[in-house]
Formats: sequence, structure tokens, C-alpha cells
Amino acid sequence: MGSNIALIGCGKMGRALLDGWVNARIKSSYIVVEPSGVKNAPKSVRVLKKPGKELKNCDIIVLAVKPQVMNDVCAALKPFIGKDALILSIAAGRSISGFKKLFGTGQPIVRAMPNLPASVGKGISVAVASPNVKPAQKKITAQLLAAAGQVEWVKNEKLMDAVTAVSGSGPAYVFLLIETIAQAGEKAGLDRNLSMTLARQTVIGSAALAGADKTPAATLRKNVTSPGGTTAAALEILMDGKMQKIFDRAIASAKKRSKQLSS
Ligand SMILES: NC(=O)c1ccc[n+]([C@@H]2O[C@H](COP(=O)([O-])OP(=O)(O)OC[C@H]3O[C@@H](n4cnc5c(N)ncnc54)[C@H](OP(=O)(O)O)[C@@H]3O)[C@@H](O)[C@H]2O)c1
Repeated sequence: MGSNIALIGCGKMGRALLDGWVNARIKSSYIVVEPSGVKNAPKSVRVLKKPGKELKNCDIIVLAVKPQVMNDVCAALKPFIGKDALILSIAAGRSISGFKKLFGTGQPIVRAMPNLPASVGKGISVAVASPNVKPAQKKITAQLLAAAGQVEWVKNEKLMDAVTAVSGSGPAYVFLLIETIAQAGEKAGLDRNLSMTLARQTVIGSAALAGADKTPAATLRKNVTSPGGTTAAALEILMDGKMQKIFDRAIASAKKRSKQLSS
């Protein structure tokens, strides 16, 4: 596709994206701006410690720094980037209108929310574009995000708080599920290591099954539940309505926090 891409910030998420792009052999030139440098940087990547005139030719600027430093980072970038360069931000809670204030109203902006499994190419990103993002820019953005997993677009930016609560924070809920099942297994008599191995591999295997085709999760659940069997005995307790209420509260709380942190 032949774009010139600048990645600003090469921590956990930035590095996952960069590795995804390089491994997917997306035809681009890459500049990374990272004050601490980049360990084992791919040969095709040029690393800068601070923004400079090298960024002038970049068509896409990917912002992967923490939201707290974003204002300073954008102020330092602004003199070096073109007015038509697409800004692709993956920062939690940083709005399109906030970026327009920092870069100017004409700057095309895509706000995306990836999640941690991006680091193994199995993430999901949800993206929203400002109206002046051209179809070709949207296409390139989708290719870049696809290197880290599945991509979904929304039109209404307000949905990003709920997206953050579900898929952005979601991996932590699944890790908690592993911990919780493992602890219950210990209480049922298994030793700690075996219980953790069983819990973790059960989640991995079930996730692979859920991802293998489009069979709804409810159907997969019913398929493994024989009437009067062991799974049914457990589900009778798990499905008494409390778990749904707990998740409703948890997701609502994360959504509220996302809104509070937004700027
Ligand atoms: N991690 C996730 O699961 C996740 C999920 C969705 C979205 N995000 C978003 O992704 C963004 C990055 O998160 P992360 O987890 O990857 O954080 P991170 O590991 O801390 O990475 C941020 C990187 O930015 C670098 N940096 C700091 N100041 C900079 C500057 N002035 N110019 C260029 N680079 C600079 C940091 O370097 P130093 O370490 O030297 O300060 C660090 O390497 C955040 O906005 C977050 O909201 C993360």
C-alpha cells in the first residue's frame, strides 16, 4: 500500500502493532518515536528519540502513548506533521474533538480502541472516524488495525465508553474468571498448580471453540449441558441471575469511569 507510517510510543500496545505490521508485510516505511529507544527494532524501522522533520512525509501518525502524556506529545508533534496526515489514536478516553483542538479542525482523525490480545494478533479494535477521513485513509487504518486482530467500526463516538468497558477492559475479566475457577478447584481438592492449569486451558480451549465458527455461545453452552448432569448442576447456581447482575454493574462502572476519564 506504500504509506509512510509514524508510530509515536512503542510500549506494550505500540510494539504489538508494529510487530503485527512488519509480520503482515504491510508495504510501508516506518518511523518510531520513542524516547527510550526500541529494543530489537525490525531492520525496516527508523527510530527517533523525539519528533523531527523526518515526520513531514508521514501519511499516518499512530499515537500509542499513555493518555496522560498525550497533550504534550501532540504539541511536540504538531510542527512536524502535514495537515492532511491521518492521526490514528489508540489512547483510552481521548476524543476526536480533543484531537481537533490539539491539531486543528481540518486534521483527519481516527480514534480506535484495541485490546491486549492484539499482542498475539488476536485482539479486537473498534474504530470511529471523523467525517473528513477519506475512504482510502479508512481502508489503510483498517489494514493497520487488522494486523492486531479483528476490526469493527462504529459511527457514534459515544459508544466508545461502552466498547472500552466490554472489550478494552474485557481481557481482565477473563483472567479473573481463570483465577476464580482455579481457586474453586483448589477448594474442591485439587492442588494449586493442577487447578490453575485446568482452569487456564479450559478457557483457552473454550475460546478456540467459540472462535472456530459462528455458533452462538448459548448454543455451545447448551450442547455441553446434559440434563441432570454435572454441568447442569453447576449452571443452576451460576445462572440464578446474580452473575448477570454483577456483570451489568461491572460494565456500567467501567463505562462510567471511561466517561469520567475522557477528554
Ligand atoms: N495496554 C492495553 O491493553 C491497551 C488497550 C487499549 C488501548 N491502550 C492504549 O494504548 C496506549 C499505550 O498503552 P500501553 O499499554 O502500550 O502503554 P506503555 O506500555 O506505557 O507504552 C507507552 C509508550 O509511550 C512512550 N512514551 C512516553 N512519552 C513519549 C513521548 N513523548 N514520545 C513518544 N513516546 C513516548 C513510553 O516510553 P517510556 O516507557 O520511556 O515512558 C512507552 O514506551 C494508551 O493510550 C492506552 O490507553 C492500551
